[in-house]
Amino acid sequence: RGLRVSDKGFLNTAVITSEITYIDGEAGVLRYRGYPIEQLATQSNFLETAYLLIYGALPSSSQFASFEYEVTRHSILHVDTESLFRAFRYDAHPMAMMTSAFAALGSYYSEANPSLQGQTLYTKGDPQSIANMDKQIFRLIGKATTLAAMAYRVRQGRPFVQPPTGMGYTESFLYQMDHLTEENYKPSPVLAKALDILFLLHADHELNASCTTVLQTGSSLVDPYSAIATGCASLYGPLHGGANEAVIRMLISIGSPENVPAFVEAVKRREKVLSGFGHRVYKTSDPRSFIVRQIADEVFKVTGKDELLETAMLLHKIAMNDEYFIKRKLAPNVDFWSGLIYRAMGFPLDFFPVLFAVPRVVGWLAHWRQMMLQSGGVKIWRPRQIYVGSGKRDYVPINSRE
Ligand code: CMC
Repeated sequence: RGLRVSDKGFLNTAVITSEITYIDGEAGVLRYRGYPIEQLATQSNFLETAYLLIYGALPSSSQFASFEYEVTRHSILHVDTESLFRAFRYDAHPMAMMTSAFAALGSYYSEANPSLQGQTLYTKGDPQSIANMDKQIFRLIGKATTLAAMAYRVRQGRPFVQPPTGMGYTESFLYQMDHLTEENYKPSPVLAKALDILFLLHADHELNASCTTVLQTGSSLVDPYSAIATGCASLYGPLHGGANEAVIRMLISIGSPENVPAFVEAVKRREKVLSGFGHRVYKTSDPRSFIVRQIADEVFKVTGKDELLETAMLLHKIAMNDEYFIKRKLAPNVDFWSGLIYRAMGFPLDFFPVLFAVPRVVGWLAHWRQMMLQSGGVKIWRPRQIYVGSGKRDYVPINSRE
């Protein structure tokens, strides 16, 4: 009664006010807490940007040192988590492992679960409850890389590596995987820096599907581990965080550059999707895609060019000049080039979405914290529907059915 719908896919529904990330989709502008993404990518680092997203201001030296210490200190996992990873089949998708592991983490920290503590656990202005909430934030950011490294190593049948001390966030992640390392298992500084910038670029993107999912789940006041697990599940899909993996599968299926025009025609006939193109908010190129393209060149200097680069460049050129894509304002998003970098770095294809999920934990937590502390408290997200199913009918016993 009184309901009018429908905003299928939430094309025109704003469900929150937010001070975190600003996007102007027509102009191709992205800012975290007011700072242009281009400035952060060249001058900040992932962990400092994480602080900025969560707390709203760039940290002082001591604030940053304390944040880094807390995140690092909480990177170690309960030893039982190892059994969880070992219980997966040898070919389990790492995003399935990540989703399960985040959900399982919640069972270790009962103080994070408001249903066990009463609904007033997170109270604005109460320093103890805010400290408790921040502790869960440190844990989730710190453990995200440890979980991801475990998902990587378990499939190789290799023992897990404890998070090291004395390394930055991204370096520590690479060290735990024993990936992109040089002498003495030290990660390559050039590649670690490139990955750190990619992490920074992926840290938040306002109300995308996964962030919305985290807030929807969090609005029931469940613990943040469970909320992050649902975000991870949402990110897994090929229209979202799985797109970087889908781009490479698409490029492999196209093969060499001479097959590109035929592929583009198939997209226009709606037989194929051009993965890595199009965005709900951007109606021009995603500003992150330019930065990612530059990082690709830096990475290729170390790793050598990816053989799919020529195909990707031609696909980009043809699509950007084709009426079908121009009319629909379809341009590269962040995923178009990032997959090529991850491939050149030697990550397995199905690990690409994990490289999106790990930094996005920060964005999910920034939004979750903002929601928990908003004035007036949290309102459970419970949309309405228009019922269009059958009218009342009487039950028919199974043997009497036609
Ligand atoms: N290839 C071909 N046609 C497309 C594409 C594409 N990648 N994206 C949109 N279109 C067409 C779509 O068919 C529609 O055409 P028409 O108006 O004739 O029916 C028109 O463009 C508008 O698209 P839409 O599907 O209404 O747009 P949306 O906002 O619902 O979907 C999207 C956004 C990102 C899901 C979509 O563009 C897409 O599927 N892209 C490929 C997957 C991808 O790269 N995802 C990563 C997104 S960025 C990172 C992230 O946030 O996860």
